[in-house]
Amino acid sequence: MNFDNNTFWITGAASGMGRSVAIEISKSRARLIISDRDAAGLNATASIIKNNGSEVITEVLDMSDSNAIKETSAKVLDLVGRIDGLYQFAGISQRSLVIDTPIENDHRIMEINYFGVIALAKAVLPSMIAQGGGQLAVTSSLVGKFGFPLRSAYSASKHALHGYFESLLAENSKNNIRVSILIPGRIQTNISKFALDKEGKEYGKMDEGQANGISAEKAARQICRGLRKEKNEVLVGGKELMMLYIRRFFPSVYYKLAVKLKPT
Ligand SMILES: NC(=O)c1ccc[n+]([C@@H]2O[C@H](COP(=O)([O-])OP(=O)(O)OC[C@H]3O[C@@H](n4cnc5c(N)ncnc54)[C@H](OP(=O)(O)O)[C@@H]3O)[C@@H](O)[C@H]2O)c1
Repeated sequence: MNFDNNTFWITGAASGMGRSVAIEISKSRARLIISDRDAAGLNATASIIKNNGSEVITEVLDMSDSNAIKETSAKVLDLVGRIDGLYQFAGISQRSLVIDTPIENDHRIMEINYFGVIALAKAVLPSMIAQGGGQLAVTSSLVGKFGFPLRSAYSASKHALHGYFESLLAENSKNNIRVSILIPGRIQTNISKFALDKEGKEYGKMDEGQANGISAEKAARQICRGLRKEKNEVLVGGKELMMLYIRRFFPSVYYKLAVKLKPT
C-alpha cells in the first residue's frame, strides 16, 4: 500500500496507536478520515494531520452503535468517493476475573471490539470491491493468539477477529482485498486506564506492563511498515512477542507459564 495521495479511514484516532498511525500516514500527504468517540481528542489529532500537509475529516463515531456505523459510513463514502485503506484501532480492554465478570461486560467488549469492527468493514467492503480493491486492517493483540488472565472477553473478542478476517480474505482475495491483522504486545497507551473492571467501570490505572511497553509512536512506525508491505499479520512490540513463539512451538510450556503470568 502506498500512502501518498490515497484515502484512509482510521478508527480510534483520538488516542494511542490509532492517533500515532494517523499522524505517521499524514506525513505522506494522504487524505484521512479519522473517527473516535472522543471529539476533543479527534480535533487534536486533526490539527497535527493538517500541519503535516494532509487533508482530514473528523467523525465522532461510537463503535458500539450499529446504526451510527451504517449512517456514518454512508456519509463518509458519499463525501470522499473511495476508501483505499480502513484501519481499525478503536477498542476497549478488560481487567476482571471470569468468575467476577457479569455477562453484560462480556457483551459490551464483544460489541465494540468485534461486532463494531465487522460492521464497519461490511459497510465499506462493497465500495472497495467496486473500486477494484482496498486494504482492511484490524487490531488484534498478543492475547488474540492465546488466553491471558483478567482478559477473558477481551482475548475472545480479539481471537474472533482472526477467524472473521481470515475468512473475509479467503473470500475476497480475488477482488484485490488485502487484510492485515495487527498483533500488538504491550504498548504505552491509555488502554489499561479505560479497561472495564468487574463493575463495568473504568479500571483507571496504567499497568506496569503497559508502562514498560514501546511507545505508541514506535508502534505506529512498525505498523505502517507492515501495512506498506501488506503483511497478513503484523507483530508490534518488543520482547513480549516471544510469548507468541512459545505458544506456537512449545504449547505445553505456554500452559505452564499461563498460570504464572503477571496480568497487570
Ligand atoms: N496498548 C496495548 O498494549 C495494546 C495491546 C494489544 C492490542 N491493543 C489494541 O490496540 C487498539 C488501540 O488501543 P490503544 O492501545 O491505542 O489504546 P487507547 O489509547 O485507549 O486507544 C483506543 C481508542 O479507542 C477509542 N474507543 C474506545 N471505545 C470506543 C467506542 N465505543 N467507539 C469509538 N471509539 C472507542 C478510545 O476512545 P476513548 O479515549 O474515548 O476511550 C481510544 O481513543 C485497541 O483495539 C486495543 O485493544 C492495545
